[in-house]
Amino acid sequence: MALYGNPQLTGVEKTFSADEIIVSKTDLTGKITYGNRTFYKMAGLDEKDCLDVQHNIIRNPNMPRSVFELLWNTLKDDKEIFAYVVNRSANGDHYWVFAHVTPSYDGNGERVGYHSNRRVANKQILGEHIEPLYKDLLAIEKNADNPKDGLEASYQAIQDLLAEKKLGFNEFMFALEV
Ligand SMILES: Cc1cc2nc3c(=O)[nH]c(=O)nc-3n(C[C@H](O)[C@H](O)[C@H](O)COP(=O)(O)O)c2cc1C
Repeated sequence: MALYGNPQLTGVEKTFSADEIIVSKTDLTGKITYGNRTFYKMAGLDEKDCLDVQHNIIRNPNMPRSVFELLWNTLKDDKEIFAYVVNRSANGDHYWVFAHVTPSYDGNGERVGYHSNRRVANKQILGEHIEPLYKDLLAIEKNADNPKDGLEASYQAIQDLLAEKKLGFNEFMFALEV
C-alpha cells in the first residue's frame, strides 16, 4: 500500500507476521517507557532512541490528527480504544497496525500510563474502509483555514459517521467487513 506525497516517506510498506505483537507503554504524557523487540524492529529505532521520548517519534504524516485526538480523549476517559494506525519507520518506510490501547493502573486504581498492543492489520479492511476514511479526514484537516478548525471538522466527521452507523468507535472498528 503506497503512500505518496511526503518527502519523509519512501512509499515502501514494511510488514510483520501474524504471530508477532508490537508492544509499547507510555507514561501519562505519552512518553515511551517500554517497547518490545518487535516495536523497535518495526520502528527501525533502538531502545535508547525511544525511552522517555514522545510516542509521536513514529508518527506518520498520513495519519489524521482527529484519530489521535479520539485516542487520547478515550484513554483519558479511562476507556480502551481499538484503531488502525499507520506508522513511520526511521528510514521512511511505513507499516500498518491494528492497535488496542488501554490505560494502566497501579494497585490503588490510579491511572499511571498507557499500553498498546498491535497486530497485523487486515489489508482488505485497510483498502476498502480505513485508507479512504483517513484520506477524507486528512483532506478535511488540510483544507481548513487553520489547524484548529481542521481538527474540529475532522473530529466531527468521525462523530457524524458513528452517529449515522449508530455505533461507538470500537464497535465500528469491529463491524468493518470485506
Ligand atoms: C500507549 C500509546 C501508544 C501510542 N502509539 C502510537 C503509535 O504507534 N503511533 C503514533 O503515531 N502515535 C501513537 N500514539 C499517539 C501519540 O502519543 C501522539 O498523540 C500521536 O503520534 C500524534 O502526535 P502529534 O500530536 O505530534 O501529531 C500512542 C499513544 C499512546 C498513549
